[in-house]
Order: sequence, then structure tokens, then C-alpha cells
Amino acid sequence: MVRPSPLPFSSSDSAAAPVRPEPLEKLQEDPVSGGPPVLLVVQPSKQVRQATNQIVMNCADIDIITASYVPEGDEEIHATGFNYQNEDEKVTLSFPSTLQPGTGTLKIDFVGELNDKMKGFYRSKYTTPSGEVRYAAVTQFENVIDRKPYPDDENVVEVKFARTPVMSTYLVAFVVGEYDFVETRSKDGVCVRVYTPVGKAEQGKFALEVAAKTLPFYKDYFNVPYPLPKIDLIAIADFAAGAMENWGLVTYRETALLIDSKNSCSSSRQWVALVVGHELAHQWFGNLVTMEWWTHLWLNEGFASWIEYLCVDHCFPEYDIWTQFVSADYTRAQELDALDNSHPIEVSVGHPSEVDEIFDAISYSKGASVIRMLHDYIGDTDFKKGMNMYLTKFQQKNAATEDLWECLEGASGKPIAAVMNTWTKQMGFPLIYVEAEQVENDRLLKLSQRKFCASGPYVGEDCPQWMVPITISTSEDPNHAKLKILMDKPEMNVVLKNVKPDQWVKLNLGTVGFYRTQYSSAMLESLLPGIRDLSLPPVDRLGLQNDLFSLARAGIISTVEVLKVMEAFVNEPNYTVWSDLSCNLGILSTLLSHTDFYEEIQEFVKDVFSPIGERLGWDPKPGEGHLDALLRGLVLGKLGKAGHKATLEEARRRFKDHVEGKQILSADLRSPVYLTVLKHGDGTTLDIMIKLHKQADMQEEKNRIERVLGATLSPELIQKVLTFALSEEVRPQDTVSVIGGVAGGSKHGRKAAWKFIKDNWEELYNRYQGGFLISRLIKLSVEGFAVDKMAGEVKAFFESHPAPSAERTIQQCCENILLNAAWLKRDAESIHQYLLQRKASPPTV
Ligand code: BES
Ligand code: ZN
Repeated sequence: MVRPSPLPFSSSDSAAAPVRPEPLEKLQEDPVSGGPPVLLVVQPSKQVRQATNQIVMNCADIDIITASYVPEGDEEIHATGFNYQNEDEKVTLSFPSTLQPGTGTLKIDFVGELNDKMKGFYRSKYTTPSGEVRYAAVTQFENVIDRKPYPDDENVVEVKFARTPVMSTYLVAFVVGEYDFVETRSKDGVCVRVYTPVGKAEQGKFALEVAAKTLPFYKDYFNVPYPLPKIDLIAIADFAAGAMENWGLVTYRETALLIDSKNSCSSSRQWVALVVGHELAHQWFGNLVTMEWWTHLWLNEGFASWIEYLCVDHCFPEYDIWTQFVSADYTRAQELDALDNSHPIEVSVGHPSEVDEIFDAISYSKGASVIRMLHDYIGDTDFKKGMNMYLTKFQQKNAATEDLWECLEGASGKPIAAVMNTWTKQMGFPLIYVEAEQVENDRLLKLSQRKFCASGPYVGEDCPQWMVPITISTSEDPNHAKLKILMDKPEMNVVLKNVKPDQWVKLNLGTVGFYRTQYSSAMLESLLPGIRDLSLPPVDRLGLQNDLFSLARAGIISTVEVLKVMEAFVNEPNYTVWSDLSCNLGILSTLLSHTDFYEEIQEFVKDVFSPIGERLGWDPKPGEGHLDALLRGLVLGKLGKAGHKATLEEARRRFKDHVEGKQILSADLRSPVYLTVLKHGDGTTLDIMIKLHKQADMQEEKNRIERVLGATLSPELIQKVLTFALSEEVRPQDTVSVIGGVAGGSKHGRKAAWKFIKDNWEELYNRYQGGFLISRLIKLSVEGFAVDKMAGEVKAFFESHPAPSAERTIQQCCENILLNAAWLKRDAESIHQYLLQRKASPPTV
């Protein structure tokens, strides 16, 4: 039993007037000081402001044994009733007499469980170098903090920490366990440590270097020093999210922090750099200044998801990370935000399950994308000025979205709130239709905007409008905007001076504006040669392809047109452009797995990817860098999966050498090779992979294997993989990607994964106690269906098996299933005809 001394509480007049959950309530400073500069201390608010005989508190999974209130200088009053409102994660304490206004102390004896749900105060299982299983005690308080109080018992060892600045309770963290660490001091004097599992301190060095570079970068950018004397980054074995920005003690999944010089691949390095950049940005943006309420969560997460790229671009310019932003965040956000079941960036939330729901691509990726657009609109100098004003003015306070706009408006003199309200207060984004006319030496552009929906342009009255910062470039200078305008009405005419008739004109330079573009056929025709001859910049080629793909899915243009555009990428050298194209071809493959011409689309994939595959080969060439490694992995994986003969043979040969210990595969080649041999392999291959999984010492390698297991094709093997997903071998947070991999792996896999989820629903749901992992699981598993009746089946299942934190995700999935079905009905036949005709007379390159 533990006695929590300090516990934030609120008092209220009656049970009928419950206080809203107060996860963001600021705590008082605690007078405790001394000891190493580590974490934080908490102290309750001790005021009864109005006479009451009830106290309502946040509370989850806690059994209260006794509770009493001791008014200062007066007698203790014992609570006589504990009324738990489990649904709302609250408890009401009732007292036999009235608590009078004044100060006092609330004392509670309670029993709490060190749970295994990766929430609150929980236990994380790990294995020591000698193979012994042990447990660490870890906290994860965002977003349901304060419901699982603090342990404090006179009989246990007491550790006193240094005083923290005033801070929010969700940023509190403590970890009890055995760890090694590496340490350095950043240029600006902050003590930085990376804590790793025992014996793996070396694997902390990469993150340490990134963190030490990142702190001074943010200090310069914000012109505000890091607010604490130290920062610790720690790898936690069982961890639901990717990482958590607790002030001064940032917790990470092992795969988001640990890098081994031989066994980590390039994409893991990049991921670690991004996650470190993200969480350290929160130390200012989120921790020093905290959002006022969860409605403004996007401000935290969107901003951190934007600036992590700025930071990585500073530390690793060779990653060309901003181009990757477009394919990782921007297009992902647009995909989700085109749904009728999307939501505005700023959304009102109350219940904890509603808060869980908004840790999604709208808050993160759309949030980051609109900040990127805003940064471009304002310019770096004024943007930095505004950021500094915001962080200085609101430090150790709470702030809302409007507060940031006000500071940026002050710094730039531009109508920031008016522009940004159209992006954060209404969901969706516009499709800009553009056509052009040559008028003597000038080009006249006619622009119009209409909400873009995944099912086609918005129909009906009252179409929402946006204030859209638009840039326009021409073939004369493809990397610079010839004109920048703010489109603040439904229609606009723009004159571009001195544009020759043979020049192309393109909107959205750099794919920065959060909109899609539909060109008149003449304008589109003129742009396509720019893909083939690479005169369009990479991120513009990417954006153009992605827009066309989504226009096809929405039924605005034909999918065959997009296939033709994809063929124009034959000379493409850029990793990210390929990565986005590959992703879209993957979506199309999944769709066509519902038809009997799936093999034909695989032929198409092979044709598109083999020229670049041949250029790259299997082994790195002198002078190659990070992006070449990523590109090689992507292309070989794509070719191998599609059954490209030469790739398959070489993958098998290299896999054999790897397994026999003759020639260990380089980390960058492992995913594509594992995927290829599994997809085209048998039970023996699967057994070998599972053995490799067991032997793997690094979580990164285990995850790599887990993610490809679903590629296996035979029904019995698929079943074996699903059973494996729930076994002790797979950490609870990773089960989701194994099942998701099965659903995404094949047509049969999709059905089997759905059945598995239904059959094991109770276990899966309990494992995560709601939370965002359950949403991810549902999304990965059902989104690929393309038959109308499946939407009904999914809906019906969750009506009888509710998952409150995944409610919106379920609606989005059902909408996507219907969209897939409509797409298939509309375009399957013409795609089939095109692929057949192509086979008969292959296009000449
Ligand atoms: N604050 C979040 C952690 C979090 C996520 C808490 C979901 C509660 C629910 C953290 O800053 C974060 O955003 N982590 C990301 C990684 C990041 C690099 C995108 C995550 O966990 O996915
Ligand atoms: Zn974050």
C-alpha cells in the first residue's frame, strides 16, 4: 500500500458539478531542493475555495482505502463515501461534514497496480545480458495523468530531486530500473545522458550526438535557453508510443533511440534523429509553454512534427529531409483530411478517449504541414521573431492557438489569424483548379477553389473557403516563385508577365501549400515532359504525381492517366520521389488484389522499377550516401515483392549466405531480402525467420522481421504468423505491426487478420486498454477492403464491441472501404484493358 502525499485535487460544491479533468493544471513549485538535478516535485493545491462536502478527483485503476481532509489547525475529517465514476476516470469523495474555505491537506491511502498496459505507472519487462527476465517501473502520463497518483511510503527509500520550474503534471516521469548510460555536455552547457539497456551503452552514442547538437540549435532558433540543467534520454523496453517528452527525462522505444554501428539501417538512424529532434523541441514548445487544453494539442504535436525536420536538416543536410516531409507527412495528411470523417485541427475534446483519438495524422501531419506553409508565407526571420515572442511571453504558462497567431502577426505584420483560422477551424483543404491563356507576352491564369473530397470535388452550397498562399513558377526558373499571391476568394485571375508560349507554368512550388491542384489538360500536357527530363524539381515531380493519383482515386481523372504518368518517371533518380510513387503503386496493387488481374499490375510494377534497379545494383558504390542506401532498399524490396526474377534469385542467394553465417547481410539490405524470400518462400523460410527473430539481440532487428512476416502467402503460414503476433515473443506494442503486416500482405492475409481480430478482440482490447494502438491496429487491418458489404460488417462489429478511442478511425475506415469499392467499380475495367494492351505492345522508353 502506498500513501500518496501530494495529489492535485479540486473541490466542488456538489457531485452534480464535476470539475473537468485537469491534466494540464499547473502545479505549485515545491520547496524541496538539493540532490542531483533530476526531475520534478509535485505539491497539491491546498485550498478549499468554497464550502463543500464533496471532492471530485481524477482517478483510474486506484482503490482508495481511507481518505481524510485535515483543515489547517483543525480536526481531521474522514471521507465516508468513495463514488467511482470509472467511465470518466474520476472519483467523488463525500465527507460527513462541510469542509470550510481555507487551507488544508488531503490524505489518501490507496492501492494501485503497477500495470502492464504501458499507461500511467507501469512495468516494463526486459532481459539482462545473462538472459534473466526483470522488470523496470516506468511512467507514461500523457494523456491520462493524475489519475494514477504518486507513490510515497515512509517505509521506502526516499529520493529527493531538485526543484523544477512550474510545470504540467503530464510531463512528470520517473523510471526505476537498471541502465547504462553515455554522457556529454552540449555546447550550451547542458548535461546530456542517453540511458540504454545494460551492456549497450555504445548504442546510445548516435542519439547522444544528435541531442547535443540539437539543444544549441533550438536555443539559437528560439533565442531561449534550454530551461533545465540536464536532460536524460532513456530507452524503455515496453513502450506504447514512439517517445514521450517528459521534461528532462524523455522516454523512448528502444528502436527510436538505439543505434548499432553495424546492425542499424539508414532509415533507423534517420528515425532516431527525427524523434530526438521532435521530443527535444517539446522541451520548449509544450513543456516551457503548455497548451491550454487538449483542443490545442495540435499546437504541440504539429509544431514539433514540423521543427523536427528543421533540426534534422541542420544536423544531417545529406538526408534531404524536407523532401521526405512531403511524402511522409503532407500527403498522408491530405489523404486523411479528404475524408468526410476527418476533423478540424482544433477540435473540442472532453473525455479521455476523445483525447486519445486526436493523436492522429490531422494533429501531427496536417498540423506540421500548415505550419510549414505558414513559415513559408511569413519568412524565416519574422517567424523566428514571433516564436521568441510567444515562448518568452508564455513561458511557464499555458497558451492557446490564438496566442501563437497573435505573436506571429506582431512579428510579420501579416493577417496570420485570418489566414490560419481557415486551416485550423474547419476540416479539409481546397482543390485549386487552374487553366491558362496566352495573352500576347503574358500568361493569364484563372484559378478557382473548391473543397477537395476523396469522393470528388465538394458538391452543394456553402462550399468552405480557405485563404490560400499560392506560389507560381515557370520553366524559365523552376526553383523560384515567379509570383506569390494570397488567394482569399473562390475565384481569381492572375497575370504572369513575360511568359513565352512554350513555357510551362506550375502552381505550388516545393509542394508547400496545403492544397491539391487540378490543371487544365493543356497545362498538364506541358508539365509532363518536365518529369521525364527532370527539369521540374524533385519535390514538384512528387507533388504532381501525388495530386494526380488522388484525383484518380476521387474519380476526377482516370487511373489509366496516372499509370501513364508513372511511366514517365523512367529517369527518376530521387529516393523520395520513388518512395511516394511506390507507396501509391502499393495502394493500387492492394486495390487490384480484389481482381483477377493482380499479376498484370505486378508486371507493371516490375517494368517501372527495373531500370532504376539495374542502375543501382545490389552493392553500394564508392561515394554513395544515405539516400542511395534508402533508395536501393526501396527498389529491391519492390522488385523482390513483385517477383522480379533476377532480384528474387539474388535475394535467395544472399539470404542463404546470411543464415549460414558466410556473409552477413548489411543492415540496409535486410528488410528487402527478408520480404522477398518470405513472400516467395515456404514454411521452412518462415521457420528460419522466426529463428532469426529469436536470436536477434536488437529490438530493431526483431521489428524488421515482425513487419515482413505478413508477406507469407499460404493460409497455414498466415495463421502461424497471427498466432506469433500474440505470443510472448512479440512485445505488446509490436503486435499491432505484425497483424497489420498480415492484413497488408495479401488478399487472404487481409481476411485472416480481420477474423483474427474479431476472434481475439477481448484480449487485444484489454492489452491496450483502448488507447491509440487499438486505432492503429484497426486502421492497418481493415482499410484495404474494397467491397461495400465489408464497410457494413466492420461497422456492425464495432457497434457490438465498442472501442471509444477508435470511434473516428472506424468511421474513416468504413468510408475508405466504400471509396475503394467505388474506385474499383469505376476503373478496374479500363486499368485491365490498359495493362493488357501494354503487354501486347510494350511502351518504348
Ligand atoms: N507527446 C507524444 C507522445 C504521445 C503520443 C503521448 C501519443 C500520448 C499519446 C510525443 O511527443 C510524440 O509525438 N511521439 C511520437 C513520435 C514523434 C517523433 C512523431 C510518437 O510517439 O509516435
Ligand atoms: Zn510530440
